[in-house]
Amino acid sequence: MTEIAHTRAELATARARLQGSVALVPTMGALHEGHRSLLRHARDVADTVVVSIFVNPLQFSASEDLDRYPRPLVADLAMCADEGVALAFVPSRVEMYQREPVVRVCAGPMGELFEGASRPGHFDGVLTVVAKLFGLVRPDVALFGRKDAQQLALIRRMVADLELPVRIEAAPLIRDADGLALSSRNKYLSAGERESALALSKAVAAGAAVRGGVEHIVAAARHVLDEQGGVETDYVAVVDPDTFDEVGPSSSSGLLVLAARVGATRLIDNGCVTLGGLQ
Ligand code: PAJ
Repeated sequence: MTEIAHTRAELATARARLQGSVALVPTMGALHEGHRSLLRHARDVADTVVVSIFVNPLQFSASEDLDRYPRPLVADLAMCADEGVALAFVPSRVEMYQREPVVRVCAGPMGELFEGASRPGHFDGVLTVVAKLFGLVRPDVALFGRKDAQQLALIRRMVADLELPVRIEAAPLIRDADGLALSSRNKYLSAGERESALALSKAVAAGAAVRGGVEHIVAAARHVLDEQGGVETDYVAVVDPDTFDEVGPSSSSGLLVLAARVGATRLIDNGCVTLGGLQ
């Protein structure tokens, strides 16, 4: 059984009882197989797994989907129990933000690129809540998925720059059988939109298949997105996965990152690419 803590006091009591090393998997709920893979990975790297489920208002802009973000708590807790999670921290908004945070974590210039350019303030909100969760749960290790590659890079950077006493582990990007990167937001897609959304993973695959320079890789991926009706491309780039700087001609590999809107839903995807080869 997974113990549930709704308040800080309940969390503190339950945390004090946990034995051995503790892994934290922060989530916003609506758990899917991508989250399940993080839970399994967590069990491999620590004695005890703690999950947080909190739809963090600080990382949503006014025009985003905070209110309609799915919150299937019963199903989420069932997955936690299935995966041997010892403790789920499920705070209310008021419990998490007892008052409006005056001091926040600033993601800096890396937080203004790509996802941050489309979603101003998003990464400040992510880093602030993750720092709070680290303070509340005090994990030895925390796990994040490669699906959100820029988030992962910024969390690593926060931990390094602020000397936070936690190890960060990355888990692979999990896809549906047809290639679509799993996301809680896939629930918003109609059947037709879901079909169109396959262009994102096809674009990543097309970019990864190119043996050439950055511009050829970007062009191949962009072409797949542009050809697909109902898909509006936001960005396509090849970046250094640690800094999110766009890679230059001297690099031998990089991360192809892309984002597109399918109907009203914004989706992201990424994959490793090898640069150079036949030009
Ligand atoms: P959420 O979108 O719920 O994702 C929680 C974790 O699951 C993140 O580390 C994310 O990268 C990972 N994840 C989601 N889809 C995945 C997939 N298809 N494959 C692998 N991992 C996947 O990311 C957040 O929540 C929030 O920003 C959070 C870090 C909890 C802060 O509020």
